Amino acid sequence: MVGRLEKRGDVGVLWINNPPVNAINRAVKRAIVDGLADAEADADIHAVVIACEGRTFIAGADIKEFGQVDAGAPATDTPDAMAALQRFPKPIVSAIHGTALGGGFEITLAGDYRVATPTARVGLPEVKIGLLPGWGGTQRLPRLIGAAAALELILSGDQVPAAAALEMGLIDRIADTDTNTDLVDAAVTLAREKAPLGLRRLDRRAVDPATAADAVFAAARERIARTRRGQHAPERIVDCVEAAARLPIDQGLAVEADCFMRCMRHPQSRALQHVFFAERQAASIPDLPAQVRPRPVRAGGVVGAGTMGVGIAMNLAGAGIPVTLVDSDAAALDRGLAAIRGNYAASVKRGRLGTEQAAQRLALIRTSQSYADLADADLIVEAVFELMSVKKAVFAELDQVVRPDAILATNTSFLSVDEIASATSRAGQVVGMHFFAPANVMRLVEVVRGATATSPETLAAAMDLARRMGKVGVVAGNCDGFIGNRMLNAYLHQADLLILEGATPQQVDRALVDFGMAMGPFQMMDLSNFDGLPRMRRDRGIERYDPRSVPVCERLVALGRYGQKTLAGYHDYSPQDRTPQPSPVAQQVIDDVAREFGIARRQFTDEDIVQRCLLALANVGFDILAEGMAYRAGDIDVVYLNGYGFPSHRGGPMYWIENDVGLAQALERVTALGDWTGAAWLKPSPLLRRLVAEGRGLSGLSEWSRPPVPAPAAAA
Ligand code: COA
Repeated sequence: MVGRLEKRGDVGVLWINNPPVNAINRAVKRAIVDGLADAEADADIHAVVIACEGRTFIAGADIKEFGQVDAGAPATDTPDAMAALQRFPKPIVSAIHGTALGGGFEITLAGDYRVATPTARVGLPEVKIGLLPGWGGTQRLPRLIGAAAALELILSGDQVPAAAALEMGLIDRIADTDTNTDLVDAAVTLAREKAPLGLRRLDRRAVDPATAADAVFAAARERIARTRRGQHAPERIVDCVEAAARLPIDQGLAVEADCFMRCMRHPQSRALQHVFFAERQAASIPDLPAQVRPRPVRAGGVVGAGTMGVGIAMNLAGAGIPVTLVDSDAAALDRGLAAIRGNYAASVKRGRLGTEQAAQRLALIRTSQSYADLADADLIVEAVFELMSVKKAVFAELDQVVRPDAILATNTSFLSVDEIASATSRAGQVVGMHFFAPANVMRLVEVVRGATATSPETLAAAMDLARRMGKVGVVAGNCDGFIGNRMLNAYLHQADLLILEGATPQQVDRALVDFGMAMGPFQMMDLSNFDGLPRMRRDRGIERYDPRSVPVCERLVALGRYGQKTLAGYHDYSPQDRTPQPSPVAQQVIDDVAREFGIARRQFTDEDIVQRCLLALANVGFDILAEGMAYRAGDIDVVYLNGYGFPSHRGGPMYWIENDVGLAQALERVTALGDWTGAAWLKPSPLLRRLVAEGRGLSGLSEWSRPPVPAPAAAA
């Protein structure tokens, strides 16, 4: 039963039970309406407590139901449940454990009092799926905590822990313990205490005018234009909160309903809902035998105290795992430790980490110059120079000294995990864990499963570790560049050609940033400092590259223009300011190379640039799927959203090519682009052709077309 009214003397406890997260669907709404009707009819009941069974209070509307909403019809039949709450004549206390999010928190706001467990969290995360709180949250929250604070909370979508929530006035009381039984007892006590005082509904209050000056909304709009480029929902949120401050509640609710429907009908919301489910799906490994359990990682090691090693050590410490950071170079270890201290100090200063928490994490990291100190580690991540010979030497040595059951992970961005594993006697316990710089900040980890290396247990352990580190782990097959960098190559290739054909690096960057990318391809190159690139390309085999796309980078390196660290790369930089400026020197190099290849110069629109770079990028995604190097199109999207700055409101490159471009259009354009670029360097993926020919989409792909991922070798 989804709803149940339990009578505790003069207090009715309305239990909701809709696993796994008590999301509000029609059945839950019905349970609320019926439960309240029974409680109202019962003259012995003087107050009601709303409580939830299972792991959490109501975690929001059922996002799966959103897809069923007819664009013309009202969003849901919620008004019934909300109206029932609004007109309920007895005090309502919400008993919050787990997370009261979105519609869940809005239900509590429609009542009178909120009591929570110490570990509970509350928030209105709708903005993260391109929506706004549409059940009165934009009207009632400002009446509770003021317009400025409400704007901040709704625009961020952040979850607020109980202690902070109490301080902000979001809840009234924190229960002594975390058990749901005790919580409900505390809520019943509160209900008895407050029942004689009557109702305390937010609907009857006005927003504190001191928090709602015109300047508050102007500043919010200005900030959104800067930080939420191209996003629809944040602007509507400001409209709604402003309405809360300026209009009576009925009119404010009408503004909210209108804005909610506008968001719901906007393609961005569908794209963001796709992202929500894709991120959760990425965590599941479809062909993992049911009996496989991830072996817990209790102690970790990191080899290489460079920037990546430092970030990875911090990730392990952040998950509460003691870690030994090994580097043969004492000076590198000192620098690494100083960087770790600096990063923690910066986090404390920004309020992201408490002083004590930072100290605890720091205490979990020890340094050593000897591999022998990795003897206790369950999992060691290698983060040394990106050269096969170097990696293999490290793995051969580690294999000799670490525990026989230890897992060895390589933080490589494109090298073969199988070949690295071949240097060991434990191929089944070798896996790729490709972190993204800065590794302590970026959410993505590509977990690379070898074709011969990586047992199911090892794969599960690496994915579990990624989760514990607060990362999004995505399984990738062992191909050159895995998912992300393999696709990036095609993208950068087009960017390299575009500047030879007449676009400037500034124009290419701007067009892609205007599309929503976090930065343009040349800014990205400059940020990553590309002095190692010519050597890496030779190491991989220069014949793999379009000869036209190589010389500009090589000549910039020869001129000492490595990127931001030399204040010069494709762009120029000043020491005080990382804003890219046009570089006459780089432009001269580009012009020279274009002339030498006899490339005709022409004009490009921003649309041309975006289409060229992103169609080439997404086209590779089809090959990756066809080869079974990614389990699902959504996994590729998750990689690009979390590792490469693809705008989440566009859903990821595969979602974009299917929904914004359309597969048939995409095939036509990629074919034309391939003819232009040269078939040796770009041709439409056979899978894209096949999907178009068969009139299929990407969503059902995993079940019908993809060859299985090569079976991994058993654990050594
Ligand atoms: N609607 C539908 N399904 C939901 C859901 C929602 N609002 N919230 C969570 N789920 C599903 C997840 O898809 C997942 O399903 P699966 O097991 O089939 O993959 C399951 O519930 C558990 O969610 P998960 O995120 O894996 O668990 P968690 O414990 O890490 O996190 C939450 C729980 C509630 C914090 C998290 O799921 C969340 O943030 N949900 C969204 C809340 C939200 O945005 N609410 C407002 C909607 S308007």
